Amino acid sequence: MQTTNNPFSTPHSQVSDTRPGLVDRFGRSVSYLRISVTDRCDLRCVYCMSENMQFVPRSQLLTLEEIVRVAKTFVALGVNRIRITGGEPLTRSNIMKVFRELGELDDLKDLTLTTNGTQLTKHARALHEAGVSRINISLDSLRPDRFRRITRVGQLDKTLAGIDAALDAGFNKVKINAVMLKHINHDEAVDLVEFARRRGLDISFIEEMPLGLIDDHLRVDTYYSSNNILADLRRRYELIATTEKTGGPARYYRMSDSNSRVGFISPHSHNFCDSCNRVRLTAEGLLLLCLGQEHSVDLRRVVRANPADDEALRNAIVQSMQLKPKGHNFDLNTREVILRHMNVTGG
Ligand code: GTP
Ligand code: 5AD
Ligand code: SF4
Repeated sequence: MQTTNNPFSTPHSQVSDTRPGLVDRFGRSVSYLRISVTDRCDLRCVYCMSENMQFVPRSQLLTLEEIVRVAKTFVALGVNRIRITGGEPLTRSNIMKVFRELGELDDLKDLTLTTNGTQLTKHARALHEAGVSRINISLDSLRPDRFRRITRVGQLDKTLAGIDAALDAGFNKVKINAVMLKHINHDEAVDLVEFARRRGLDISFIEEMPLGLIDDHLRVDTYYSSNNILADLRRRYELIATTEKTGGPARYYRMSDSNSRVGFISPHSHNFCDSCNRVRLTAEGLLLLCLGQEHSVDLRRVVRANPADDEALRNAIVQSMQLKPKGHNFDLNTREVILRHMNVTGG
C-alpha cells in the first residue's frame, strides 16, 4: 500500500489505474468503502445506542476471511480507500489479521480506522506497522463525569491514554471526532480545540444524526448546529476556511498559529450527499448504499453461495451501484425512520 504523511495531497499512483471503477446512477464515483467489523462496543454512547442493545449473534458475522475477500474485490473494482469501523473494531477477536492483509494491497491508497480509543494502548503499534495511515478517535468531553454521562460506562483516562498511544506509535494523522449535543457538551468546543492544538491533532465536530431509536434524549432537543460551534470558536480563534478534503464529508478550517485543522461534519445544516463517494459493509455482510437510507444488498449470501469464485461477488457489487440513492432524508422532528443504530452502520 502507498502511504503518505499528508492525506490532503495524496498523490495518485504513478502507474495508470486500469481497474474498472464503480459509478452510480448520478455519476458519483465510489472509491471509498467503510467496513463495520463488529456492532459490539465496550462503550454505550447515548447518541449511538439505547441502554439495552441486541447485538448480532457472532455466528451471523462475516468471518475475517470473508471481510478480507469482500474488501479485496472492492479494491479490484477501483476502491482505493478503506476505513475500518464498528461498533468498536478493536474489540473483534484477531482483527489485526484484517489490517495486516489489507495493508499489503498495492492499490489501496488509504487504510484508516475509526475507534473509541480504549484499546489503542494495546494495538497502536501493530496498526502502524500494518500500514494504517490515519486514525479517528471519538472524544466528546474532557470532563471525566461528562465523558461517563455520554458513554454511559467509559473512563476518560483510557481514551486519553489511547490517543497518546497512537501518537507514540508514530501516527501523525490522528483526528478527534466530537459529536456535539446541546446542553450536554456543546460548551466544550473551545476546550476540545485547545486539547487538539496542544497535541497536534485534527478535530471534527459532528452534528448528531437520527439513526436508531435511543432512550437518553430527544434528538431535536440536543441539536446544536455546526454554525453555532463555528460562532463559539470564532470568539476565541481566527478560523480560515479551506478547500482541503480527507476523502470524507468534513469541511475544514485552519488557524494561523497551529497545524491542527478544525472540521465540521454537518449532515443537517450542510448536506454533502451530492459528492458522496462511499458505501458501507455491515458486520453481517450487508452492503449499505447510503448511511441514511435502507437500500442494501446481502453480500454474505453471495459470498457463501460462491465460495471459490469472485465473479458473482463482483457482479453484485457493480449492480449495487444502481441502488445507491441520491441522499438521506434526515429529519430531526419526526421519530427516527432509519431503525439501524450507528454501531451497525459504522458511521
Ligand atoms: P475521513 O474524512 O476519512 O478522515 O473520515 P470521516 O470523518 O468520514 O470518518 P469517521 O469514521 O471519523 O466519521 C466521522 C463522522 O462522519 C461519523 O459521525 C460518520 O457517521 C460521519 N459520516 C461519514 N461519512 C458520512 C456520510 O456519507 N454521510 C453522513 N451523513 N455522515 C457521514
Ligand atoms: N450521529 C452522529 N455521529 C455519531 N456517531 C455515532 N453515532 C452517531 C450519531 N447518531 C459517531 C461516533 C464516531 C463516529 C464513527 O460516529 O462518535 O465518532
Ligand atoms: Fe461505541 Fe462508537 Fe457507538 Fe460510542 S459511538 S457506543 S464508541 S460505536
